[in-house]
Amino acid sequence: MKKTKNIIIAVTGSISAYKACELVRLLCKRGNKVNVLMSEAATHFVTPLTFQTLSKNPVVINMFENPVAWDPQHVALAQGAHMVAVVPATANVIAKLAQGICDDIITCVIAATRAKVIVCPAMNENMYTHPATQDNIARLKRFGYRIIEPVKGELACGKVGIGHLADLDKIISEIEKALK
Ligand SMILES: Cc1cc2nc3c(=O)[nH]c(=O)nc-3n(C[C@H](O)[C@H](O)[C@H](O)COP(=O)(O)O)c2cc1C
Repeated sequence: MKKTKNIIIAVTGSISAYKACELVRLLCKRGNKVNVLMSEAATHFVTPLTFQTLSKNPVVINMFENPVAWDPQHVALAQGAHMVAVVPATANVIAKLAQGICDDIITCVIAATRAKVIVCPAMNENMYTHPATQDNIARLKRFGYRIIEPVKGELACGKVGIGHLADLDKIISEIEKALK
């Protein structure tokens, strides 16, 4: 019998956050247990209620709010995860992860986990090709994180360029590879 895998999907404040809804739905349909974490910025794009309903699990945004257990939530989530994927990953969260900044639930869970981490950048082409972002991505690769590079496509600004979130099929197949 297939063992249920615990997957954490961390959603950050990119216009492509809506695609994470379908990702969560598909991962749950495949028999995985999915916990969604959202940055405050992500809640401007998609509601936590959408993720809560799709994943059938509470969504964590603020790690200081309503503790339901005695143990710190970020540590419990980090230790229980088989893998963590940041989908979509903003330039901001990539910079914070590259520097070890832990100022929200997403960055704390990723620092505290020893599970595999996948990062799926999505942003404007100039933000993506900026040397700071490229240096930060290179640093994440050195940490052993798997980066699923964005593709060329229509961006939020209306221009066509590199920075479009990778296809969900590709992201799902990388998540399944990481779970093996
Ligand atoms: C309409 C809109 C779309 C945005 N899309 C992106 C995006 O695709 N990628 C990105 O890196 N930042 C994007 N941003 C900027 C981020 O939301 C901003 O940097 C935010 O501080 C990210 O916070 P977080 O990393 O904690 O989610 C967008 C902002 C707005 C207003």
